[in-house]
Amino acid sequence: MLKPKVEKILNEQIQKEGYSSFLYLSMASWSESKGMAGVAQWLYAQAEEEKMHMLKIIDFINERGGKAIIPAIDKTPEDWKDIFVLFDEVLAHEKYISESINDVVALTVKENDFATQNWVQWFVTEQIEEESSVQAIIDKLNLVGKNNLYVFDRDIMNLRTDV
Ligand code: FEO
Repeated sequence: MLKPKVEKILNEQIQKEGYSSFLYLSMASWSESKGMAGVAQWLYAQAEEEKMHMLKIIDFINERGGKAIIPAIDKTPEDWKDIFVLFDEVLAHEKYISESINDVVALTVKENDFATQNWVQWFVTEQIEEESSVQAIIDKLNLVGKNNLYVFDRDIMNLRTDV
């Protein structure tokens, strides 16, 4: 059985992963409307990943005898100044998610819930990969600069999105 505090923090994480999915959907739609098909493709795939993260937590809570709550999702932003600002926001958001995963780990330690602690390690590793893949995109973006966004868009189309 999950302890109530652990169940609560995991339910909060469902909300955060759901918000992440909708945030990236909104960013994907914005990118598509600006003609950046490659960026949109990457963000749509990222939105799917976040949905998968959410489902993973729902499944875990219910499997461990708790009750996963399907949350309302806050309205996401819908406009960004440019693609540089957008990817800075993606990175900042992923750092925020990493912090919240760390909070889950810390609570499982405090509550002596080593099963959940073990399970949540998958997310710890996933966050390291996500932060690093977004940082790599920002580096690339800075390298190509404002005048070569077409090249950047074609390039990102070929990036792996399952990391
Ligand atoms: Fe599920 Fe990108 O954090």
